Amino acid sequence: MKPIQVGLLGIGTVGSGTFQVLSRNQEEIGRRAGRAIEITMVADLDTARARSIVGDGVRVVGDAREVIANPEIDVVVELIGGYGIARQLVMEAIGQGKHVVTANKALLAVHGTEIFRAAAAKGVIIAFEAAVAGGIPIIKALREGLTANRIQWVAGIINGTTNFILSEMRDKGMDFAAALKDAQRLGYAEADPTFDIEGVDAAHKATLISAIAFGIPVQFDKCHVEGITRLASADIRYAEQLGYRIKLLGITRRTDKGVELRVHPTLIPARRLIANVDGAMNAVVVQGDAVGATLYYGKGAGSEPTASAVIADLVDIARLDGADPAHRVPPLAFQSSTLAAAGGDLP
Ligand code: HSE
Repeated sequence: MKPIQVGLLGIGTVGSGTFQVLSRNQEEIGRRAGRAIEITMVADLDTARARSIVGDGVRVVGDAREVIANPEIDVVVELIGGYGIARQLVMEAIGQGKHVVTANKALLAVHGTEIFRAAAAKGVIIAFEAAVAGGIPIIKALREGLTANRIQWVAGIINGTTNFILSEMRDKGMDFAAALKDAQRLGYAEADPTFDIEGVDAAHKATLISAIAFGIPVQFDKCHVEGITRLASADIRYAEQLGYRIKLLGITRRTDKGVELRVHPTLIPARRLIANVDGAMNAVVVQGDAVGATLYYGKGAGSEPTASAVIADLVDIARLDGADPAHRVPPLAFQSSTLAAAGGDLP
């Protein structure tokens, strides 16, 4: 079968990881996909750096629109981030009949409904495993492994930066500012860490989880969001003395009134597995009516862990490209559910 041709928009941390893992495991990945997956074009503003990563065998351009306009490209991988140019490029790629893989949780949480509808109308796939919890295949778990279940709730540590900060505050008695500095020094936090520490990044991911788990449109504006900036090391110490750990959780659950969606620091009994997830790791608990509780743990960020999720999406697309769209799992089932007002406790 003809190889699937991939164009990367942006070759930073995740893009270079994707290139490296695809090159290293090319044979196995091709076998599993049923055809070769080839990155044949890369767009990046820094063309010299891009070329130093991909070598001479890949066409490097400075303008992302050259990738989108190329009829040979089957899949566009958007790794630019943000809501602005990334949104335009994703919509243009869909308009050109390309499948899209993106790690951009902010874009999908805010504009997902528009993007998913456009993709469905065009008969192309939009895949975003890398947008939520990095290397943990939580989207696949919800859509495939747990498909028999009526999901009751999902709760997760889905921001590694804040989990690292909270772990440092507990283990080393550090205050918030010092722990944040450590996170920045080690490269966990963004240069502007606002989205991490104010809970916005976790809320983007929780919004996507909620949409997938409950078949509702993405509604980031309905998410209650509270970060960790007001926590003092004394809060963490007192929680510890009472037998609890404080974690920033993204929580979504079915209620009688609709779906609840919230992100906030949460007291968790110290004996629970999720209370013991430390450092920059992620973990997600999903409660289904048939399976009960399931727990997913792993790296929620980083070059190769996130690349692992991007490539899983590419393999799915390689298998499904050319198949009848009616037989594909739609990105979201649009249902007229409502999101209940925030509040309530984690079950
Ligand atoms: N800033 C994010 C985190 C990166 O700390 O989890 C991955 O989305």
